[in-house]
Order: sequence, then structure tokens, then C-alpha cells
Amino acid sequence: MPIILEADSLAKSYGTGSSRLSILDGISFKVEQGEFVSIVGPSGCGKTTLLMAIAGLLRPDSGRVSFKGRALDAPTPGIAVVFQDYSRSLFAWKSNLENVVFGMVRNKGVTKADKREQARELLSAVGLEGFADRYPWQLSGGMQQRVAIARGLASQSELLLLDEPLAAVDAQTRADMQDLLLKLAERYKQTCVLVTHDVEEAVYMADRVVVLTRRPTSVDHEILVGLGKKRDQLTTREDPRFLTIRHDVMAAIRRFRAQTPLVEKA
Ligand SMILES: Nc1ncnc2c1ncn2[C@@H]1O[C@H](COP(=O)(O)OP(=O)(O)OP(=O)(O)O)[C@@H](O)[C@H]1O
Ligand SMILES: [Mg+2]
Repeated sequence: MPIILEADSLAKSYGTGSSRLSILDGISFKVEQGEFVSIVGPSGCGKTTLLMAIAGLLRPDSGRVSFKGRALDAPTPGIAVVFQDYSRSLFAWKSNLENVVFGMVRNKGVTKADKREQARELLSAVGLEGFADRYPWQLSGGMQQRVAIARGLASQSELLLLDEPLAAVDAQTRADMQDLLLKLAERYKQTCVLVTHDVEEAVYMADRVVVLTRRPTSVDHEILVGLGKKRDQLTTREDPRFLTIRHDVMAAIRRFRAQTPLVEKA
């Protein structure tokens, strides 16, 4: 499959002088069209910073991002983001339905009524039937996060970047949402890059896992999951290949954690 996204030697620091903090330190990886790639790494290693850079929302200090073979230096409708900070990414003055409709950037020529109908269907798919005409602030955190996911899927962008999209969703709903994300990403032919703290989730969802080091962050290694596109919450998670990969990723994260003090200096 052709490469849809390429990160080439991305570097990014925050601050200046003695308070300068090097975050990304030469990150390179590629994503093929139709792939589901998970990114895992220690807490605070710069995963959100990386996602913002590959969305064209943050300019790296050096290195480059290519989207469909062209240098990316600004946001494009071809890339949608489900932000980690979901409560700040939803519009408080728009209903949940209008928030999802707002995400439909690529549906030119589709009538307003059709967009609203599609948005209603997506909200039902994420379990929010009956909440379409309410406002985000009338929902729990997990429900708001599902509105943000529905909006990302509604974009039908070729590339969907998901930053901890299920962090606020309760455990029972989480498994259903994982399967729904896989199903809809395939239906809409969306290539996905998922950042998650949950190693099992990373492996369950992905065709390939990119493991990041602690800060200053680079790619430690990549793992081809090789379990095919069809996943099942019981059989996939019991598959010996799944368990081996999970072990490998967890061991890497534990190694990095052991190297990093728990309390960060301000
Ligand atoms: N705009 C900013 N200005 C200064 N420092 C920042 C900024 N954004 C992030 N940082 C710092 O950069 C580091 C990486 O932050 P980032 O949010 O990218 O990490 P992360 O891996 O997504 O973290 P988490 O696992 O908590 O989601 C942190 O130490 C953070 O304090
Ligand atoms: Mg983050």
C-alpha cells in the first residue's frame, strides 16, 4: 500500500535558555494507507506534541511531515484529530448533533438534512441516541469523548489521528468503542494513528505498534502485529501472538519508566 504519512526526523523543544526542554528528538516513521498504527510511550514523552506535529497544527523545529507525498506545514481537511482534551475541543454553544455536523469538512455537495441524518446515525453508533439535541456540557466526560469520536469519524478524512480517545470512557463501553472504531475506520476507509496509554488496546487495535522512548523522544522500535484485520475481544486477546507482542511492549514501557523519575521537575 502507498505511504499516506511520513514523519522524518521530527525534533521539537519547548521553552528557551535554561528552561528549554527537548521533547521530540528525531522521530521517524511511516504510515501506509489503510493501516491502523498505535503509538505508545511513557507518560509525558511527547505523544500529543507528536500528534499535533503530524496534524500540521504544530511546526517542528526540524524534520518534516509528508502527507500523501507532499510536505505538510498547515492543517488539511485530509487529516482529522480527536483531541486528548476533548472537553475543550467541543463547542459548548453547539448541540452534540451540530458538533458532529461541524466535523463534516469533506462532504461537499451533501445537503444539510443528509449531514444531520448521518450525524444522528453516528451519535447512535457511539451509544448517544437521544442526546443529539443536548449540549456537550450536559453529558458526562465519557459521553463527551464519544461525541468527539463521532465528530472525527464524521469528517471522513483519509487520516484520523486519535489522542487517547477512550481515556474517559468506562471499561465496559471501552471494548465496544474499540470494535466500533475499527469497524467505522474500515467502512470509511480511514487510516488511523492512535495514541494510547493502554498497551493491550494498542495491540488489539493496530496493524503496527510504534514504541517511543522516554524524553527526549525517538522511536525505540516498531512491531508488526500480523493478526489480520478481524479482531475479537476474546479470541484475539487470547492469541499467543497477541500475548507475545503485549509482553514486548509492556517490557519496553516498564524499562523506560524505571529510567524516569516519577516526579517531574517544573
Ligand atoms: N505548549 C507547551 N509549552 C511548553 N511545554 C509543553 C507544551 N506542551 C507540552 N509541553 C511539555 O512537553 C512534554 C510533553 O508533553 P505532551 O503533552 O506532548 O506529552 P504526552 O506524551 O502526550 O503526555 P501524556 O502521556 O500525559 O498525554 C511535557 O513535559 C509537557 O509539560
Ligand atoms: Mg498526551
